[in-house]
Amino acid sequence: MTDIGRNWNEFHKTDIAEKLAFFSREGRLYDCLFSQQFDRGMLDHIFSVADRLRAATKTKAGADKVASLLSEKRAMLYFVQPSTRTFLSFLNACHILGLKTSEIRDTSTSSELKGESPEDTVRTFSSYVDMIIMRHPVPGFVEKTAWVMNRAKRPVPIVNGGSGKDQHPTQALLDVYTIHRSLAGGVDGKTIVMVGDLKRGRTVRSLSYLMKNYSDVRLIFVSPPELRMEADILDSLRRHGIPFEETQDFAAAMPRADAIYMTRIQDEHDVAGESKAVDYGRFCFRAEHLKAIKPTAVIMHPLPRRHEIEVSVDEDDRAVYWRQERNGMWVRAALIACIFGVDAKIPAAKS
Ligand code: NCD
Repeated sequence: MTDIGRNWNEFHKTDIAEKLAFFSREGRLYDCLFSQQFDRGMLDHIFSVADRLRAATKTKAGADKVASLLSEKRAMLYFVQPSTRTFLSFLNACHILGLKTSEIRDTSTSSELKGESPEDTVRTFSSYVDMIIMRHPVPGFVEKTAWVMNRAKRPVPIVNGGSGKDQHPTQALLDVYTIHRSLAGGVDGKTIVMVGDLKRGRTVRSLSYLMKNYSDVRLIFVSPPELRMEADILDSLRRHGIPFEETQDFAAAMPRADAIYMTRIQDEHDVAGESKAVDYGRFCFRAEHLKAIKPTAVIMHPLPRRHEIEVSVDEDDRAVYWRQERNGMWVRAALIACIFGVDAKIPAAKS
């Protein structure tokens, strides 16, 4: 136990760079909490493991072998905020590797209703399982769980499936994996346009943090003035020398984009319905825009969508959000395999 781990409030305030070791074990990632935990080597490795998993599980023999890799392990999915894709992709990622799963999706079905603290509730899960994957509305709560569990007699790894409006690191992994698979030359040298509610969207925050791992990337943030990207992200980009622009002019940004990343308005974070006044129509991608973007560009969205992308755009080959969603399952399975150290046992993809 390092000294910085003794007091939660001090620990929480400590710079992430200083606490990375606390969330790793035996030279491997243990808890997955923040995008800042990933370096280029780790990202390339996770993506190659995801590619190997896809290939290995195409046959019954391969799928059975992969499903035996973690068949002695159990995972708990504690998702107390709405989720479709993240929940289902983690659930199926666990099943691909043979992990058995249990779930809580509503605190009204747990003893939290009897007054048990959320910290005690998650500690209870760890008595029964070997990993906790969680989504929680309170930023910092997932990190606190990892802090509690790392100090417990029987620690288990914690994976962040979305923490309030703060971070969603595994979404960022699947987003970068999607760009890596879709664009010639991968992420390096690309211009990524992020559009919409950048202030409260945890996906764009985590994705921005991952950009330090790529060279010659340019970011264009397109948002209504009320929903601009927060200063902590902009400061981090400046520190890493990643050029970015902020604009409201989506039409001008479109032809420059290699990847266009659309997001919905995150009105669940409204305090008094303030985003009702935002003119979001200018931050939507419509079929008429298809002729304005590069023939090689990709259109992405973490989903769920409301009106940010017109449904007829789905038919264009450059719309990759449904593939992006499936990539989430493979990349999450790869991440879990790496956390448990069984990544080397996944057979190499046949060429
Ligand atoms: C995102 C989330 O939950 O932050 N969804 C997801 O995980 N795919 C984006 C959103 O809800 O807008």
